[in-house]
Amino acid sequence: MQAKIEQLKQKIEQAVLTVTSSKTLHEVKTLFLGRTGEVSDLMKGMRDVPKEERPQVGKIINDLRVWTEQKFDELEIKIKKAELEQRYKAEAIDVTMPGKKGEVGAYHPNTLIRNELISIFSGMGFEIFEGPEIENDYYNFTALNTPADHPARDMQDTFYITEDLLLRTQTSAGQIRVMEKKAPPIKILSPGKVYRSDDDATHSPMFSQMEGLVVDKGITLCDLKGMLDEFAKKIFGENIKTRLRPSYFPFTEPSVEVDVSCFECDGKGCRLCKGTGWIEVLGAGMVNRHVLEGCGVDPDKYSGFAFGMGIERIAMLKYGINNMKLLFEGDTRFLKQFKD
Ligand code: PHE
Repeated sequence: MQAKIEQLKQKIEQAVLTVTSSKTLHEVKTLFLGRTGEVSDLMKGMRDVPKEERPQVGKIINDLRVWTEQKFDELEIKIKKAELEQRYKAEAIDVTMPGKKGEVGAYHPNTLIRNELISIFSGMGFEIFEGPEIENDYYNFTALNTPADHPARDMQDTFYITEDLLLRTQTSAGQIRVMEKKAPPIKILSPGKVYRSDDDATHSPMFSQMEGLVVDKGITLCDLKGMLDEFAKKIFGENIKTRLRPSYFPFTEPSVEVDVSCFECDGKGCRLCKGTGWIEVLGAGMVNRHVLEGCGVDPDKYSGFAFGMGIERIAMLKYGINNMKLLFEGDTRFLKQFKD
């Protein structure tokens, strides 16, 4: 028995020398200490040892088991340490190497303008309202004083989904949704995408608008003009002036077209303003009393103004972009030029 044990010990010593990694350590350890390993087998063999010899043989075998376990424990510590050192070496970073340059993204010019507009108007106390892009005829037209067969429907070429559902042609639809839900005072700003069957260098079938609506007691055209003056200075520069020209929208009365003095030539006349010194930037007006009435707002008690502008148009003017397509193509060489 003693000889057998010695032999096994030697075999273990030999086997231990072949271990080079945690993986082989586990394999070799199983050969001896596993459920069917050689040391375990010896212990199972105790059954056949005569009763009187059992305590003595049991002790020898148990000593062997403790010795073997200790051997492997020591080996494990050594191997783990070596492996860790190797990992540290492999993962070492040379802090003196030049770093990789990360590309920094930029906001899309539309987003820049939208954020700027939101910041200007929220500074004046406007709250944001976002309406749905799929609207029904009522909100997009009828409630905006544009019933079926009204000639003003031709002002906007509409994408219909069904007879009643359409892609909204204007964020003005949001005016109705807000006035239906909320009693005055109302002061909302409504950015969003709108759709029209229109496509050339300055028009796109999908574009973005920013709508504003103010309803309260005693609101006048002067309030609109004052607010627009402030807005124009903030977005185009301190020297900018505004002027109102009569226009027509079914849902405002009176309606105006708003021009700003040309920021390129300071109003002297240049290519951008086509020699006029003025640039048209938005449509606006006093909310038509029929519209107020239809939303349950008493037009004898309350009045309001509304305005709507194209975000792409403002971006094109402000950044000198001559083709609207550039704003939709996603060419990073173009987009990279607009950093905050
Ligand atoms: N909805 C109008 C358009 O798309 C703009 C507008 C908004 C005009 C609000 C007056 C008041 O052309």
